[in-house]
Amino acid sequence: MRIDVLTIFPEFFEPTLGISLLGKAQNNGVLEFVIHDLRDWTSDPHRTVDDEPYGGGPGMVMKVEPLSEAIEAIIALDPRKPEVIFLAPIGIPFKQPIAHELAHLDRLLLVCGRYEGFDERAFTYADRIISIGDYVLNGGEVAALVVIEATARLIEGVLGHGQSALEESFSDGLLEYPHYTRPSSFRGEDVPGILLSGNHKEIDRWRLEQSRARTARLRPDLLKGENR
Ligand code: ADE
Repeated sequence: MRIDVLTIFPEFFEPTLGISLLGKAQNNGVLEFVIHDLRDWTSDPHRTVDDEPYGGGPGMVMKVEPLSEAIEAIIALDPRKPEVIFLAPIGIPFKQPIAHELAHLDRLLLVCGRYEGFDERAFTYADRIISIGDYVLNGGEVAALVVIEATARLIEGVLGHGQSALEESFSDGLLEYPHYTRPSSFRGEDVPGILLSGNHKEIDRWRLEQSRARTARLRPDLLKGENR
């Protein structure tokens, strides 16, 4: 998958995308990240990307011209047509099923906002607008990193162990079951005996029960399907 990112802060991405599993996936050619500085598509000496809002009010708005020129130029860099995703608090909430949908695509273009938001006319380029939660960040960069990490780890060849993405929280609408590793006893707390039994059918049954009970206790909204 190729992931293009349009931002006024390329420095957010360069260090983070090079480490751990994402770094390895780039080296293996499974993922390609191309980070673009929006200011490269400005034409004034100050490389201006924002302006005051029509109608007044606080803050600045991201100008439509650099955004439209950048998006058109970036799309043309590769024959694959990207899914163009704007990151903004007005977007649809990002959930695991969306990460699965995105993981099937061969190219994404993530557009990060700053300031009060985008000039509304820039959204004509958006195939989707995504919010990572009901809070306001200083910009879309951290949100883009969240979308990249959640999506990339679902792509074949990114995670070390093929199973791990299938068995984790949200993959079946439930929170994940509890995990334990050595020692089998820690400060009086023992690992549940069933996990030491070697009976894999019983272990699977226990894990499903634990997942259900934990979801009911901590995230009852998931059981009602409110988060799909
Ligand atoms: N930009 C600012 N806040 C955001 C959020 N919650 N999600 C996505 N992009 C954002």
